[in-house]
Amino acid sequence: MNQIDRAKQLAAERSLDDVRDGMCLGLGSGSTAAIMLELLGQRVRQGLRVCGVPTSEASRQLAQREGIPLVTFDEVTNLDLTIDGADEVDPQLNLIKGGGGALLREKIVASLSRRVLIIADVRKQVPYLGAFPLPVEVVRFAWKPLAERLAQLGASPALRPGSDGRPYLTDEGNFILDCAFDRIADPAALAARLDAIPGVVDHGLFVGLADTLIVGRGEGTDVIDRPRRQAI
Ligand code: 5RP
Repeated sequence: MNQIDRAKQLAAERSLDDVRDGMCLGLGSGSTAAIMLELLGQRVRQGLRVCGVPTSEASRQLAQREGIPLVTFDEVTNLDLTIDGADEVDPQLNLIKGGGGALLREKIVASLSRRVLIIADVRKQVPYLGAFPLPVEVVRFAWKPLAERLAQLGASPALRPGSDGRPYLTDEGNFILDCAFDRIADPAALAARLDAIPGVVDHGLFVGLADTLIVGRGEGTDVIDRPRRQAI
């Protein structure tokens, strides 16, 4: 196992310390979350009773294979804990997510969770968001004018390609524009501007949603809670 895979494994293992019997979990997407799902599956087979809402079709299939009981938002209206990965994490625990294309369901699941735990290897910790191109999910109908509007915000949008030579389609059937911004000085302000564009379904900026980051490095993990805002 290489160092990065080991770091992912350590973060995933540590996240399960926060899982309690009877919890309803948000099940993240991506390679780090996949390790967590495999470990969670082992615990379920040993008798842990939890249920989960997956954030992507890929995670749904993996969770099903692992024997993790699944529920939908027709059955539960909020979750105890979500465990998910990230593409970038800044010191305020703002995130870029969506490298795997699951940002819409991931954000819904995170927003409906009492607590959001992010698991990542050390490469994901950055002083500022933006080196990783920000995924923006847009309706197919108007993707070209939407790409132009995003370029006016200072991005260089690129339509995400799929594996079959056609554009990548999200689980909800939308396109993704990967928007290189270089450095996002004010994630909350950019998120508000993106939220206001008709046709933008969602974007990978997660501001104020993550409560705790578990970062795997070397042979251990660091656990970092989101800094609280100073009262004025
Ligand atoms: C998927 C995501 C993933 O959480 C993110 O891409 C991190 O993935 P990995 O753990 O494979 O680096 O946001 O939409």
